[in-house]
Amino acid sequence: MRTLCLYYTRTNTTKEIMENIARIIGADAAEYTDGKNRSGFLGYVGACFATVKNTISKVSIKGEINLKEYDRLIIGMPVWAEGPCAIGKALLKKYASVMPSEVYYVVTHMGDKNDYTAKIKAMDKLLGRPSAGQVSIRTKENDYIKESAAFAETLV
Ligand SMILES: Cc1cc2nc3c(=O)[nH]c(=O)nc-3n(C[C@H](O)[C@H](O)[C@H](O)COP(=O)(O)O)c2cc1C
Repeated sequence: MRTLCLYYTRTNTTKEIMENIARIIGADAAEYTDGKNRSGFLGYVGACFATVKNTISKVSIKGEINLKEYDRLIIGMPVWAEGPCAIGKALLKKYASVMPSEVYYVVTHMGDKNDYTAKIKAMDKLLGRPSAGQVSIRTKENDYIKESAAFAETLV
C-alpha cells in the first residue's frame, strides 16, 4: 500500500508530526501551501486576518506529487480559529476528486481544548465521502511525537 502524508505547516510542528508518521509507516511526505509567507508575528497576524476575512482559497502541493499514485492519504493541518485551517479545507476542495478513497485527517492544535471531532468530521463534506479516520494532537506542553507515533502504529 502506498501512502502519502501531506501537511501544511507555519512553524514546522505539523511537519515534524507528519514526517514522524511517514517514517513509522513508510510513507512519502509532502507539503501543501497557499503560497504565502506566514512566518513570524506578521505571518501569524496575516493568518488571523485571512481566516476572519475568509480570503484563503489558493493551494498547491510542493514537488512532483501525483495523488492518483497513492492508495492512502493522511492530511495534516493545524487548527486556526477553532477549526481545521482554511488552507487544509482549500486542499480538500481542490483535490478531493483525485484523492485516494482512504483519507485520514491529523489536526494539530495548541490549546488544551481537545475536542475538534465534529469540526474535523465536517470536512467530509468537502471530501465528498466519509474519511477513514482522524486524530487531533495537542502541540503545546504535550509529547506530540509520542502521540503521533501511537496514531501511526494504528495504520501499520
Ligand atoms: C492564525 C492561527 C490561529 C490559531 N488558532 C488556534 C485555535 O483556535 N486553537 C488552538 O488550539 N490553536 C490555534 N492555533 C495554534 C496552532 O494550531 C498550533 O500551534 C499548531 O500546532 C501549529 O502547527 P504548525 O507549527 O505546523 O503551523 C492557531 C495558530 C494560528 C497561526
